[in-house]
Amino acid sequence: MNNIIEKALHVAGALTHDKIVTLLSLEDTKELFQAAYQLKCRYIGKKVSLRGLIEMGNVCSKDCFYCGIRKSNSNVKRYRLSEEDVIRMAKWCFEHDYGSVVLQSGEIESETNTEYVEHILRGIREFGGDTFGVTLCLGEQTEEVFRRWLEAGAHRYLLRIESSDPSIYAKIHPANHLYTRRVECLRILKRLGYQTGSGVMIGLPGQTLDDLAYDIEFFREMDLDMIGMGPYLPHADTPLGANIAMTPEYTNRQLQLGLKMIAVTRLYLHDVNIAATTALQALDDTGREQGIQAGANVIMPNVTDVEYRRSYQLYPNKPCLDENAAKCRNCLNWRMLSIGEKIIWGERGDSPHYFKKRK
Ligand code: 5AD
Ligand code: FES
Repeated sequence: MNNIIEKALHVAGALTHDKIVTLLSLEDTKELFQAAYQLKCRYIGKKVSLRGLIEMGNVCSKDCFYCGIRKSNSNVKRYRLSEEDVIRMAKWCFEHDYGSVVLQSGEIESETNTEYVEHILRGIREFGGDTFGVTLCLGEQTEEVFRRWLEAGAHRYLLRIESSDPSIYAKIHPANHLYTRRVECLRILKRLGYQTGSGVMIGLPGQTLDDLAYDIEFFREMDLDMIGMGPYLPHADTPLGANIAMTPEYTNRQLQLGLKMIAVTRLYLHDVNIAATTALQALDDTGREQGIQAGANVIMPNVTDVEYRRSYQLYPNKPCLDENAAKCRNCLNWRMLSIGEKIIWGERGDSPHYFKKRK
């Protein structure tokens, strides 16, 4: 085991498919997590970047079988923040030294939505200039729309592939949600010059360690700059999640698998940004801290006004439903200090990988 990890520490991309599977199947993860954390510190330091997450709206044209805000879920109260509200929340982040924001919403493809996002991006650029990071997480769009948003001031885009295996993808989405289009969107985003992020859900029904190893290899093949992935959490109002019980065993398995995916991805890709996602915290109060200690370097605290948070539950047990942005800011500061990490205030926290490619 030592040898596999030792080699992976020296060279990115050194792990074979079988070795990736071996690492993902480890019961004793101590060495694996230590090595991944060591690499994270080598490339980024004992520091964590923050992105303030703004959930702009939960109206969605898609019907993904796992997602709590899928179009067919009539238990959700739909909302869409005004442009002014989104800009205000982003400004709060800027004034409180968050280096960047992520604008997320359900997927809508329309001219009205494109302009709404453009206005917000311009509004943010007015106070944020070029030094404040803006990431979009708004689903599949045409090349033209991606370009317009880039010109209006966005420079990173997150679009999870959800599973890199087309047959798993087909099982968790309706037939008109096309895997090929999603991959094409990722290629367009990279070509346009966005720092491009993707990721998967971990521990989906029927997904094997072999499949997850292919996911990690997909990240490298796609030459991604950022990875945002998290454990799958069964949502009772969805076709995929309705019959899965969140027993303590299930919860723990999902958490451990999520952490192992972070660690092995760090060992395989080395210099990318990896998020310790909120889904980890939904499984364990210290899930994000554990994510950092397994090699992640980004946290995305929610800064959306509390009144909307309950309406944006992609999965159950969403944390910080009642904690406002200021409270989460203090809490995170303290939590990071508790594991010997410092928050990088006031910097965009770009992916080192993106700039290395450009040299
Ligand atoms: N469990 C975990 N993650 C989920 N997402 C959506 N639904 C769930 C769920 N039930 C993730 C998807 C999506 C991201 C915004 O949230 O990966 O891309
Ligand atoms: Fe929200 Fe701790 S991060 S309360």
